[in-house]
Amino acid sequence: MEYSFHDESHRVLVVDDEKVIREILSDFLTMEGYIVHAAEDGQQALAELEQRAYNLVITDLKMPKMGGLELLEEIDRRSLNVLTVIMTGFGTVETAIEAMKKGAYDYILKPFKVEEVIHIVQRGLEKQRLQMENIQLKEALSIYTLSDKLNRTLSLEHILEIIVDTALRESHADVTTLLLRAERTGQFEVRLRRAPEGKEPAHKLEALNLVEILEHYREDRPVLYHGNRATRFFTDDSADHPVCSIISVPLKIRLEIIGMLNVYSYTRGRKFAEGQRKMLSILADRASSAIDNAQLFQNLQRSFQQTIQGFARAMEAKDPYTHGHSDRVMQYARLITRGLGLDKPLEEKISTAALMHDIGKIGIPLDALNKPQKLTREEYELFKEHPDKGRRILEPLEFLRDIVPAIYHHHEQFDGTGYPLGLRGEEIPLDARILAVADTYDAMTSDRAYRKALSHEIAVAELRRCAGTQFDPRIVAVFIIEMDKWRKQKAAAAAAITTPPACPGA
Ligand SMILES: [Fe+2]
Ligand SMILES: [Fe+2]
Repeated sequence: MEYSFHDESHRVLVVDDEKVIREILSDFLTMEGYIVHAAEDGQQALAELEQRAYNLVITDLKMPKMGGLELLEEIDRRSLNVLTVIMTGFGTVETAIEAMKKGAYDYILKPFKVEEVIHIVQRGLEKQRLQMENIQLKEALSIYTLSDKLNRTLSLEHILEIIVDTALRESHADVTTLLLRAERTGQFEVRLRRAPEGKEPAHKLEALNLVEILEHYREDRPVLYHGNRATRFFTDDSADHPVCSIISVPLKIRLEIIGMLNVYSYTRGRKFAEGQRKMLSILADRASSAIDNAQLFQNLQRSFQQTIQGFARAMEAKDPYTHGHSDRVMQYARLITRGLGLDKPLEEKISTAALMHDIGKIGIPLDALNKPQKLTREEYELFKEHPDKGRRILEPLEFLRDIVPAIYHHHEQFDGTGYPLGLRGEEIPLDARILAVADTYDAMTSDRAYRKALSHEIAVAELRRCAGTQFDPRIVAVFIIEMDKWRKQKAAAAAAITTPPACPGA
Protein backbone atom coordinates (compact mmCIF):
# COMPACT_ATOMS: atom_id res chain seq x y z
CA MET A 1 0.00 0.00 0.00
CA GLU A 2 1.41 3.38 -0.99
CA TYR A 3 0.72 6.62 0.78
CA SER A 4 1.83 9.74 -1.00
CA PHE A 5 1.56 13.43 -0.51
CA HIS A 6 3.59 15.19 -3.17
CA ASP A 7 6.69 14.46 -5.23
CA GLU A 8 9.03 16.78 -3.36
CA SER A 9 8.41 14.95 -0.10
CA HIS A 10 10.87 12.85 1.80
CA ARG A 11 10.41 9.12 1.52
CA VAL A 12 9.92 7.04 4.65
CA LEU A 13 9.77 3.24 4.88
CA VAL A 14 7.87 1.75 7.81
CA VAL A 15 8.87 -1.83 8.64
CA ASP A 16 6.75 -3.76 11.12
CA ASP A 17 5.07 -7.15 11.15
CA GLU A 18 2.04 -5.68 12.94
CA LYS A 19 -0.41 -4.30 10.43
CA VAL A 20 -1.89 -1.82 12.88
CA ILE A 21 1.49 -0.19 13.62
CA ARG A 22 2.25 0.06 9.87
CA GLU A 23 -1.08 1.75 9.27
CA ILE A 24 -0.92 4.20 12.18
CA LEU A 25 2.60 5.33 11.32
CA SER A 26 1.85 5.51 7.61
CA ASP A 27 -1.30 7.59 8.15
CA PHE A 28 0.31 10.09 10.51
CA LEU A 29 3.52 10.47 8.53
CA THR A 30 1.55 10.90 5.29
CA MET A 31 -0.43 13.67 6.98
CA GLU A 32 2.89 15.33 7.80
CA GLY A 33 3.70 15.37 4.09
CA TYR A 34 5.99 12.35 3.73
CA ILE A 35 5.78 9.69 1.05
CA VAL A 36 5.37 6.50 3.03
CA HIS A 37 5.76 2.86 2.05
CA ALA A 38 5.39 -0.07 4.39
CA ALA A 39 7.06 -3.47 4.60
CA GLU A 40 6.25 -6.49 6.78
CA ASP A 41 9.77 -7.60 7.60
CA GLY A 42 13.45 -6.93 6.96
CA GLN A 43 13.60 -8.91 3.73
CA GLN A 44 10.70 -7.07 2.16
CA ALA A 45 12.21 -3.79 3.34
CA LEU A 46 15.56 -4.61 1.73
CA ALA A 47 13.92 -5.46 -1.58
CA GLU A 48 12.09 -2.11 -1.45
CA LEU A 49 15.28 -0.20 -0.54
CA GLU A 50 17.07 -1.77 -3.51
CA GLN A 51 14.29 -0.58 -5.81
CA ARG A 52 13.82 2.99 -4.62
CA ALA A 53 15.76 5.57 -2.66
CA TYR A 54 14.45 6.38 0.83
CA ASN A 55 15.46 9.05 3.30
CA LEU A 56 14.47 7.19 6.44
CA VAL A 57 13.50 3.71 7.64
CA ILE A 58 11.55 3.12 10.86
CA THR A 59 11.86 -0.52 11.74
CA ASP A 60 10.65 -2.88 14.41
CA LEU A 61 13.24 -5.10 16.07
CA LYS A 62 11.51 -8.47 16.24
CA MET A 63 10.01 -9.64 12.98
CA PRO A 64 9.80 -12.97 11.16
CA LYS A 65 12.31 -13.71 8.33
CA MET A 66 14.58 -10.74 9.08
CA GLY A 67 14.59 -8.62 12.22
CA GLY A 68 15.56 -4.96 12.71
CA LEU A 69 19.19 -5.51 13.75
CA GLU A 70 19.85 -7.75 10.78
CA LEU A 71 18.20 -5.17 8.51
CA LEU A 72 20.54 -2.52 9.95
CA GLU A 73 23.54 -4.71 9.21
CA GLU A 74 22.41 -5.26 5.63
CA ILE A 75 21.80 -1.54 5.08
CA ASP A 76 25.33 -0.89 6.29
CA ARG A 77 26.86 -3.73 4.26
CA ARG A 78 25.17 -2.56 1.05
CA SER A 79 26.08 1.10 1.75
CA LEU A 80 22.48 2.19 1.35
CA ASN A 81 22.27 5.85 2.07
CA VAL A 82 19.30 5.91 4.47
CA LEU A 83 18.70 6.93 8.07
CA THR A 84 17.32 4.23 10.36
CA VAL A 85 15.20 4.50 13.47
CA ILE A 86 14.57 1.40 15.57
CA MET A 87 11.33 0.65 17.42
CA THR A 88 11.62 -1.65 20.38
CA GLY A 89 8.91 -3.06 22.51
CA PHE A 90 11.30 -4.47 25.10
CA GLY A 91 12.28 -1.14 26.46
CA THR A 92 15.77 -2.21 27.36
CA VAL A 93 18.55 0.29 26.96
CA GLU A 94 20.94 -2.49 25.89
CA THR A 95 18.92 -3.31 22.79
CA ALA A 96 18.75 0.37 21.87
CA ILE A 97 22.51 0.76 22.37
CA GLU A 98 23.21 -2.26 20.23
CA ALA A 99 21.01 -0.79 17.48
CA MET A 100 22.80 2.56 17.69
CA LYS A 101 26.15 0.73 17.46
CA LYS A 102 24.98 -0.88 14.26
CA GLY A 103 24.34 2.54 12.77
CA ALA A 104 20.77 3.41 13.83
CA TYR A 105 20.17 7.13 14.03
CA ASP A 106 17.72 6.89 16.98
CA TYR A 107 15.27 4.58 18.73
CA ILE A 108 11.61 4.71 19.75
CA LEU A 109 10.19 2.79 22.66
CA LYS A 110 6.89 1.04 22.16
CA PRO A 111 4.20 1.97 22.98
CA PHE A 112 5.02 5.32 21.37
CA LYS A 113 3.28 8.63 21.10
CA VAL A 114 2.76 9.65 17.48
CA GLU A 115 4.12 13.19 18.10
CA GLU A 116 7.29 11.66 19.45
CA VAL A 117 7.77 9.61 16.27
CA ILE A 118 7.13 12.66 14.09
CA HIS A 119 9.61 14.68 16.10
CA ILE A 120 12.32 12.03 15.72
CA VAL A 121 11.66 11.75 11.97
CA GLN A 122 11.78 15.54 11.53
CA ARG A 123 15.00 15.82 13.51
CA GLY A 124 16.61 12.97 11.57
CA LEU A 125 15.68 14.41 8.20
CA GLU A 126 16.95 17.84 9.21
CA LYS A 127 20.26 16.26 10.17
CA GLN A 128 20.33 14.48 6.83
CA ARG A 129 19.60 17.74 4.99
CA LEU A 130 22.49 19.47 6.76
CA GLN A 131 24.80 16.58 5.94
CA MET A 132 23.73 16.78 2.30
CA GLU A 133 24.36 20.54 2.23
CA ASN A 134 27.76 19.88 3.68
CA ILE A 135 28.52 17.36 0.99
CA GLN A 136 27.28 19.72 -1.72
CA LEU A 137 29.41 22.50 -0.30
CA LYS A 138 32.40 20.19 -0.28
CA GLU A 139 31.68 19.15 -3.85
CA ALA A 140 31.27 22.77 -4.93
CA LEU A 141 34.59 23.54 -3.29
CA SER A 142 36.37 20.64 -4.92
CA ILE A 143 34.90 21.54 -8.33
CA TYR A 144 36.08 25.11 -7.78
CA THR A 145 39.58 23.90 -6.83
CA LEU A 146 39.55 21.64 -9.87
CA SER A 147 38.54 24.46 -12.24
CA ASP A 148 41.27 26.58 -10.76
CA LYS A 149 43.87 23.84 -11.30
CA LEU A 150 42.67 23.21 -14.86
CA ASN A 151 42.81 26.91 -15.67
CA ARG A 152 46.47 26.98 -14.70
CA THR A 153 47.62 24.41 -17.24
CA LEU A 154 47.51 23.88 -20.97
CA SER A 155 49.36 20.60 -20.89
CA LEU A 156 47.06 17.76 -21.95
CA GLU A 157 48.94 15.19 -19.88
CA HIS A 158 48.66 17.35 -16.77
CA ILE A 159 44.92 17.92 -17.36
CA LEU A 160 44.29 14.18 -17.64
CA GLU A 161 46.15 13.57 -14.39
CA ILE A 162 44.17 16.26 -12.55
CA ILE A 163 40.86 14.79 -13.77
CA VAL A 164 41.66 11.18 -12.93
CA ASP A 165 43.10 12.03 -9.51
CA THR A 166 40.06 14.15 -8.64
CA ALA A 167 37.64 11.44 -9.83
CA LEU A 168 39.46 8.80 -7.78
CA ARG A 169 39.53 10.93 -4.66
CA GLU A 170 35.95 12.20 -4.83
CA SER A 171 34.31 8.89 -5.73
CA HIS A 172 36.42 6.72 -3.38
CA ALA A 173 36.68 4.28 -6.28
CA ASP A 174 38.99 1.25 -6.41
CA VAL A 175 40.00 2.12 -9.98
CA THR A 176 39.52 5.13 -12.25
CA THR A 177 40.21 5.11 -15.97
CA LEU A 178 40.16 7.80 -18.61
CA LEU A 179 39.82 6.91 -22.27
CA LEU A 180 40.30 9.29 -25.18
CA ARG A 181 39.48 8.70 -28.81
CA ALA A 182 42.72 8.50 -30.77
CA GLU A 183 42.74 10.96 -33.66
CA ARG A 184 44.55 8.52 -35.93
CA THR A 185 42.43 5.40 -35.44
CA GLY A 186 39.16 6.80 -34.09
CA GLN A 187 39.35 4.12 -31.35
CA PHE A 188 38.95 4.79 -27.64
CA GLU A 189 42.23 4.13 -25.83
CA VAL A 190 43.00 4.08 -22.12
CA ARG A 191 45.13 7.16 -21.50
CA LEU A 192 45.28 6.94 -17.72
CA ARG A 193 44.36 4.35 -15.08
CA ARG A 194 44.70 5.01 -11.39
CA ALA A 195 44.03 3.19 -8.15
CA PRO A 196 44.54 4.48 -4.59
CA GLU A 197 48.21 4.20 -3.65
CA GLY A 198 49.20 0.69 -2.61
CA LYS A 199 45.75 -0.69 -3.45
CA GLU A 200 46.15 -1.46 -7.14
CA PRO A 201 43.86 -4.45 -7.90
CA ALA A 202 45.96 -7.46 -8.87
CA HIS A 203 43.86 -8.50 -11.83
CA LYS A 204 44.22 -7.43 -15.42
CA LEU A 205 43.07 -4.19 -17.01
CA GLU A 206 39.31 -3.87 -17.46
CA ALA A 207 38.14 -4.59 -21.02
CA LEU A 208 35.16 -2.32 -21.39
CA ASN A 209 32.15 -3.09 -23.52
CA LEU A 210 32.36 0.18 -25.42
CA VAL A 211 29.34 -0.57 -27.61
CA GLU A 212 27.10 -0.79 -24.56
CA ILE A 213 28.56 2.35 -22.97
CA LEU A 214 28.37 4.42 -26.15
CA GLU A 215 24.76 3.34 -26.66
CA HIS A 216 23.94 4.66 -23.18
CA TYR A 217 25.74 7.93 -23.93
CA ARG A 218 23.90 8.41 -27.21
CA GLU A 219 20.54 7.79 -25.59
CA ASP A 220 21.47 10.03 -22.67
CA ARG A 221 21.04 7.14 -20.24
CA PRO A 222 23.23 7.39 -17.16
CA VAL A 223 25.77 4.60 -16.66
CA LEU A 224 25.49 3.84 -12.95
CA TYR A 225 25.04 0.14 -12.29
CA HIS A 226 25.73 -2.43 -9.63
CA GLY A 227 26.23 -6.20 -9.48
CA ASN A 228 25.27 -8.20 -12.57
CA ARG A 229 24.03 -5.09 -14.31
CA ALA A 230 27.50 -3.57 -13.93
CA THR A 231 29.38 -6.62 -15.24
CA ARG A 232 27.70 -6.41 -18.64
CA PHE A 233 29.81 -3.28 -19.26
CA PHE A 234 32.87 -5.51 -19.47
CA THR A 235 33.85 -7.91 -22.18
CA ASP A 236 36.55 -9.82 -20.35
CA ASP A 237 36.11 -12.76 -18.08
CA SER A 238 36.44 -11.08 -14.72
CA ALA A 239 34.65 -13.76 -12.73
CA ASP A 240 37.42 -13.79 -10.09
CA HIS A 241 37.06 -10.08 -9.50
CA PRO A 242 33.58 -9.04 -10.52
CA VAL A 243 33.02 -5.34 -10.48
CA CYS A 244 30.46 -4.31 -7.85
CA SER A 245 29.58 -0.88 -9.12
CA ILE A 246 30.44 1.29 -12.11
CA ILE A 247 29.93 4.87 -13.22
CA SER A 248 30.87 5.99 -16.70
CA VAL A 249 30.44 9.56 -17.94
CA PRO A 250 31.21 10.93 -21.41
CA LEU A 251 33.70 13.63 -22.30
CA LYS A 252 32.18 15.75 -25.05
CA ILE A 253 33.40 18.60 -27.18
CA ARG A 254 30.69 20.32 -29.20
CA LEU A 255 28.35 17.30 -28.87
CA GLU A 256 31.03 14.91 -30.08
CA ILE A 257 32.10 12.16 -27.68
CA ILE A 258 35.86 12.43 -27.33
CA GLY A 259 36.38 10.24 -24.31
CA MET A 260 35.03 8.61 -21.17
CA LEU A 261 35.73 8.81 -17.48
CA ASN A 262 35.02 5.63 -15.52
CA VAL A 263 35.11 4.68 -11.87
CA TYR A 264 34.88 1.09 -10.62
CA SER A 265 34.24 -0.40 -7.21
CA TYR A 266 35.44 -3.95 -6.57
CA THR A 267 34.66 -3.79 -2.86
CA ARG A 268 31.63 -5.89 -1.95
CA GLY A 269 28.78 -3.74 -0.79
CA ARG A 270 30.39 -0.45 -1.84
CA LYS A 271 28.09 1.00 -4.44
CA PHE A 272 28.28 4.37 -6.10
CA ALA A 273 25.38 6.78 -5.71
CA GLU A 274 23.60 9.09 -8.13
CA GLY A 275 25.22 12.11 -6.43
CA GLN A 276 28.65 10.75 -7.33
CA ARG A 277 27.58 10.23 -10.94
CA LYS A 278 26.41 13.85 -11.13
CA MET A 279 29.68 15.02 -9.62
CA LEU A 280 31.65 13.01 -12.20
CA SER A 281 29.48 14.49 -14.97
CA ILE A 282 30.39 17.99 -13.86
CA LEU A 283 34.02 16.90 -13.66
CA ALA A 284 33.82 15.47 -17.20
CA ASP A 285 32.30 18.73 -18.51
CA ARG A 286 35.11 20.80 -17.01
CA ALA A 287 37.61 18.27 -18.28
CA SER A 288 36.23 18.39 -21.81
CA SER A 289 36.58 22.14 -22.15
CA ALA A 290 40.07 22.03 -20.62
CA ILE A 291 41.06 19.29 -23.09
CA ASP A 292 39.55 21.31 -25.94
CA ASN A 293 41.60 24.36 -24.95
CA ALA A 294 44.76 22.30 -24.55
CA GLN A 295 44.29 20.69 -27.95
CA LEU A 296 43.69 24.04 -29.64
CA PHE A 297 46.80 25.39 -27.97
CA GLN A 298 48.82 22.33 -28.94
CA ASN A 299 47.69 22.64 -32.57
CA LEU A 300 48.66 26.29 -32.55
CA GLN A 301 52.03 25.45 -31.04
CA ARG A 302 52.54 22.63 -33.49
CA SER A 303 51.82 24.78 -36.53
CA PHE A 304 54.14 27.53 -35.23
CA GLN A 305 56.81 24.95 -34.64
CA GLN A 306 56.30 23.37 -38.03
CA THR A 307 56.64 26.77 -39.68
CA ILE A 308 59.94 27.40 -37.96
CA GLN A 309 61.23 23.89 -38.58
CA GLY A 310 60.11 24.34 -42.16
CA PHE A 311 62.32 27.42 -42.33
CA ALA A 312 65.26 25.51 -40.89
CA ARG A 313 64.81 22.62 -43.29
CA ALA A 314 64.26 24.92 -46.28
CA MET A 315 67.48 26.66 -45.37
CA GLU A 316 69.34 23.33 -45.22
CA ALA A 317 67.73 22.10 -48.42
CA LYS A 318 69.25 24.96 -50.40
CA ASP A 319 72.66 23.76 -49.34
CA PRO A 320 73.69 20.21 -50.26
CA TYR A 321 76.25 20.16 -47.43
CA THR A 322 73.82 20.76 -44.58
CA HIS A 323 70.86 18.82 -45.95
CA GLY A 324 69.39 16.62 -43.18
CA HIS A 325 71.83 17.92 -40.55
CA SER A 326 69.17 19.10 -38.05
CA ASP A 327 67.19 15.86 -38.30
CA ARG A 328 70.31 13.80 -37.63
CA VAL A 329 71.35 16.02 -34.73
CA MET A 330 67.86 15.47 -33.30
CA GLN A 331 68.24 11.72 -33.67
CA TYR A 332 71.62 11.72 -31.90
CA ALA A 333 70.36 14.08 -29.17
CA ARG A 334 67.48 11.66 -28.54
CA LEU A 335 69.96 8.81 -28.07
CA ILE A 336 71.78 10.87 -25.45
CA THR A 337 68.64 11.99 -23.58
CA ARG A 338 67.43 8.39 -23.38
CA GLY A 339 70.85 7.19 -22.29
CA LEU A 340 70.85 9.81 -19.54
CA GLY A 341 67.36 8.67 -18.49
CA LEU A 342 65.84 12.13 -18.90
CA ASP A 343 62.06 12.37 -18.82
CA LYS A 344 59.80 12.64 -21.86
CA PRO A 345 59.11 16.43 -21.72
CA LEU A 346 62.85 17.11 -21.48
CA GLU A 347 63.51 14.77 -24.40
CA GLU A 348 60.91 16.62 -26.46
CA LYS A 349 62.40 19.98 -25.55
CA ILE A 350 65.91 18.90 -26.53
CA SER A 351 64.63 17.35 -29.78
CA THR A 352 62.94 20.62 -30.75
CA ALA A 353 66.10 22.52 -29.88
CA ALA A 354 68.13 20.10 -32.02
CA LEU A 355 65.86 20.69 -35.01
CA MET A 356 66.30 24.43 -34.69
CA HIS A 357 69.83 24.73 -33.34
CA ASP A 358 71.27 26.36 -36.48
CA ILE A 359 68.21 28.52 -37.24
CA GLY A 360 70.46 31.59 -36.78
CA LYS A 361 72.31 30.67 -39.99
CA ILE A 362 69.29 32.11 -41.82
CA GLY A 363 70.94 35.50 -41.44
CA ILE A 364 74.36 34.43 -42.80
CA PRO A 365 75.22 34.28 -46.54
CA LEU A 366 75.72 30.65 -47.53
CA ASP A 367 78.34 31.40 -50.15
CA ALA A 368 80.70 32.59 -47.47
CA LEU A 369 80.37 29.33 -45.52
CA ASN A 370 80.48 26.75 -48.31
CA LYS A 371 83.79 27.21 -49.99
CA PRO A 372 86.49 24.62 -50.41
CA GLN A 373 89.03 26.61 -48.40
CA LYS A 374 88.96 27.27 -44.66
CA LEU A 375 87.01 30.35 -43.60
CA THR A 376 88.81 33.68 -43.31
CA ARG A 377 88.87 35.31 -39.90
CA GLU A 378 86.04 37.70 -40.89
CA GLU A 379 83.95 34.83 -42.27
CA TYR A 380 84.51 32.80 -39.10
CA GLU A 381 83.46 35.79 -36.96
CA LEU A 382 80.31 36.03 -39.10
CA PHE A 383 79.64 32.29 -38.64
CA LYS A 384 80.07 32.60 -34.86
CA GLU A 385 77.12 34.98 -34.75
CA HIS A 386 74.59 32.24 -35.58
CA PRO A 387 73.82 31.15 -31.98
CA ASP A 388 73.00 34.75 -31.06
CA LYS A 389 70.99 35.28 -34.23
CA GLY A 390 69.06 32.07 -33.38
CA ARG A 391 68.38 33.38 -29.88
CA ARG A 392 67.00 36.62 -31.29
CA ILE A 393 64.75 34.79 -33.77
CA LEU A 394 63.20 32.51 -31.14
CA GLU A 395 63.10 34.67 -28.04
CA PRO A 396 59.93 36.59 -29.00
CA LEU A 397 58.03 33.28 -29.28
CA GLU A 398 56.93 32.50 -25.76
CA PHE A 399 56.33 28.76 -26.24
CA LEU A 400 59.82 28.29 -27.71
CA ARG A 401 61.57 30.35 -25.07
CA ASP A 402 62.70 27.32 -23.10
CA ILE A 403 64.79 26.02 -26.01
CA VAL A 404 66.65 29.32 -26.42
CA PRO A 405 69.47 28.46 -23.93
CA ALA A 406 70.28 25.26 -25.86
CA ILE A 407 70.48 27.17 -29.13
CA TYR A 408 72.40 30.11 -27.74
CA HIS A 409 75.03 27.91 -26.06
CA HIS A 410 75.45 24.96 -28.45
CA HIS A 411 78.95 26.12 -29.41
CA GLU A 412 80.20 26.58 -25.85
CA GLN A 413 83.06 24.25 -24.87
CA PHE A 414 83.42 22.38 -21.59
CA ASP A 415 86.78 24.06 -20.79
CA GLY A 416 85.36 27.55 -21.36
CA THR A 417 86.99 28.22 -24.75
CA GLY A 418 83.76 28.18 -26.77
CA TYR A 419 81.36 30.96 -27.79
CA PRO A 420 79.31 33.14 -27.48
CA LEU A 421 79.91 33.55 -23.70
CA GLY A 422 82.81 31.19 -22.94
CA LEU A 423 80.83 29.36 -20.24
CA ARG A 424 82.53 26.32 -18.73
CA GLY A 425 81.53 22.94 -17.25
CA GLU A 426 78.07 22.80 -15.79
CA GLU A 427 77.56 26.53 -16.32
CA ILE A 428 76.67 25.42 -19.84
CA PRO A 429 73.03 24.28 -19.90
CA LEU A 430 72.70 20.49 -20.12
CA ASP A 431 70.66 20.77 -23.35
CA ALA A 432 73.48 22.73 -24.97
CA ARG A 433 76.13 20.22 -23.81
CA ILE A 434 74.05 17.42 -25.36
CA LEU A 435 73.61 19.33 -28.62
CA ALA A 436 77.34 20.06 -28.80
CA VAL A 437 78.18 16.34 -28.89
CA ALA A 438 75.36 15.42 -31.31
CA ASP A 439 76.13 18.40 -33.56
CA THR A 440 79.87 17.81 -33.77
CA TYR A 441 79.50 14.07 -34.38
CA ASP A 442 77.23 14.81 -37.35
CA ALA A 443 79.56 17.53 -38.64
CA MET A 444 82.49 15.11 -38.52
CA THR A 445 80.65 12.23 -40.16
CA SER A 446 79.26 14.43 -42.98
CA ASP A 447 80.97 15.75 -46.11
CA ARG A 448 82.01 19.34 -46.04
CA ALA A 449 82.90 21.73 -48.81
CA TYR A 450 86.58 21.39 -47.90
CA ARG A 451 86.80 17.72 -46.80
CA LYS A 452 85.16 14.32 -47.01
CA ALA A 453 83.16 12.77 -44.16
CA LEU A 454 85.17 11.06 -41.41
CA SER A 455 84.35 7.48 -40.47
CA HIS A 456 82.31 6.69 -37.36
CA GLU A 457 85.39 5.23 -35.65
CA ILE A 458 87.51 8.33 -36.26
CA ALA A 459 84.67 10.62 -35.13
CA VAL A 460 84.24 8.60 -31.92
CA ALA A 461 88.01 8.69 -31.29
CA GLU A 462 87.88 12.45 -31.76
CA LEU A 463 84.97 12.81 -29.31
CA ARG A 464 86.93 10.72 -26.77
CA ARG A 465 90.05 12.85 -27.28
CA CYS A 466 88.07 16.06 -26.68
CA ALA A 467 86.00 14.75 -23.72
CA GLY A 468 86.68 17.06 -20.79
CA THR A 469 88.03 19.89 -22.99
CA GLN A 470 85.48 20.51 -25.73
CA PHE A 471 82.73 18.20 -24.44
CA ASP A 472 81.13 17.08 -21.20
CA PRO A 473 82.86 13.68 -20.68
CA ARG A 474 79.73 12.11 -19.16
CA ILE A 475 77.73 12.95 -22.28
CA VAL A 476 80.44 11.65 -24.61
CA ALA A 477 80.47 8.36 -22.70
CA VAL A 478 76.67 8.01 -22.88
CA PHE A 479 76.63 8.96 -26.55
CA ILE A 480 79.21 6.34 -27.49
CA ILE A 481 77.33 3.59 -25.65
CA GLU A 482 73.93 4.57 -27.07
CA MET A 483 75.30 5.13 -30.57
CA ASP A 484 76.85 1.70 -30.49
CA LYS A 485 73.54 0.08 -29.50
CA TRP A 486 71.64 2.09 -32.13
CA ARG A 487 74.06 1.20 -34.90
CA LYS A 488 73.82 -2.48 -34.00
CA GLN A 489 70.01 -2.30 -34.06
CA LYS A 490 70.08 -0.50 -37.38
CA ALA A 491 72.53 -3.01 -38.79
CA ALA A 492 70.35 -5.86 -37.63
CA ALA A 493 67.21 -4.26 -39.09
CA ALA A 494 68.80 -3.34 -42.41
CA ALA A 495 72.32 -4.53 -43.09
CA ALA A 496 72.76 -1.83 -45.69
CA ILE A 497 72.57 1.09 -43.27
CA THR A 498 75.82 1.47 -41.42
CA THR A 499 76.50 5.20 -41.58
CA PRO A 500 74.18 8.19 -41.97
CA PRO A 501 74.02 9.75 -45.45
CA ALA A 502 76.91 12.05 -46.11
CA CYS A 503 76.48 15.82 -45.60
CA PRO A 504 78.58 18.53 -44.00
CA GLY A 505 78.38 21.30 -41.51
CA ALA A 506 77.87 22.01 -37.86
FE1 LIG B 1 75.80 25.56 -34.92
FE1 LIG C 1 74.89 22.41 -36.41
